[in-house]
Amino acid sequence: MSESPIIQELETIRDAGLSALTNLNIEEELQAWRTTHLGRSAPVMLVFQKLGKLSAEERPLVGQAANQVKVALETAFNERFAAIKEKALAQAVASEKLDVTLPGRPIVHGRLHPDTQILRELYRIFGEMGFQVYRSREVETDEYNFQLLNFAIGHPARDMQDTYFVEAGERGDNPIVMRTHTSPGQVHAMQEASATNPLNPPPVRIVLPGMCYRYEQTDARHETQFDQIEGLAVGPGITFTNLKGTLSDLARRLFGQQVRTRFRASFFPFTEPSAEFDVECFLCGGKGCAVCGGGWLEIGGCGMVHPNVLRNGGYDPEHYSGFAFGLGPQRIAMLRYGINDIRYFWENDLRFLEQF
Ligand code: FA5
Repeated sequence: MSESPIIQELETIRDAGLSALTNLNIEEELQAWRTTHLGRSAPVMLVFQKLGKLSAEERPLVGQAANQVKVALETAFNERFAAIKEKALAQAVASEKLDVTLPGRPIVHGRLHPDTQILRELYRIFGEMGFQVYRSREVETDEYNFQLLNFAIGHPARDMQDTYFVEAGERGDNPIVMRTHTSPGQVHAMQEASATNPLNPPPVRIVLPGMCYRYEQTDARHETQFDQIEGLAVGPGITFTNLKGTLSDLARRLFGQQVRTRFRASFFPFTEPSAEFDVECFLCGGKGCAVCGGGWLEIGGCGMVHPNVLRNGGYDPEHYSGFAFGLGPQRIAMLRYGINDIRYFWENDLRFLEQF
């Protein structure tokens, strides 16, 4: 810098500022320093205000020198500020203590889907009654889904179960279908069991859970994809009374001793006689609502296994009889948890799922 008195003054301003900064160690003091040395009335700022009164030769020299002083002070401030912050952080980390009395962070638990919960409960109850779980295929032939269950080709009862076809054309009368119910598993299970001892086949007592598919209009009680749990008991001397006892006992175990149930005469090609099994709707107290319709919710179909079906499974209807039922676990879950629309089940809406 030259010998101009203003420039000498600027050097003094700079040195005074820098030396005042070296002793500062706390943030408040640093902020005060900034107001004094870089604020609107700081000495270096007053030099800028005086520039207009200087001669044309002196003005750029002094302007440039004042700017250098200002930048030097700002740079020094920033460095000091960063150093103080770093020191404070290091002290905080060094003095950090573990407070074991603080509550822990909450752990978010996953949940079982309400359908899984009800299925597990059904397996437990049926297990206690002596039924084993048997799993059968979801993609079936027409033969197993219908024909071996006594639905002749073109039989009007097929209209009860509108079908999704996977492969139709080339197989003629035996297309591949998505199973419309779990009943085809009855035939697979009987055939498997009777094959072990064709002359004297062993008794069967199984439940068959699984997804079923029907091309139908959805509403509060109907989905196009739903699950069923089929039951099958085959042996010598099995009666309709055994069937009624099993399902009534199931309802009491699921819904309590007071629950009212009823069997309504019905028709299925694969059972004779056949019935629908209804439970009084608790959602409306039996008055009738969107879920049940008329105060009772149908949770399944049932009946005595038709002689033709026993025969198709390898069991001689002269010596064996059996009962079968097919229940809707989702309908059971609706009653159990007060769910008023079956379409919530597969929507994957967390607001629904988190309630279980
Ligand atoms: C049948 O599917 C027979 N296979 C049941 C059966 C098995 C009868 C063994 C006799 C012996 P149904 O179509 O009524 O019957 O269905 C049985 C149950 O499945 C219904 O009561 C209901 O709980 C459930 N269900 C049927 N269709 C649907 C659907 N679209 N959405 C949800 N649940 C359904």
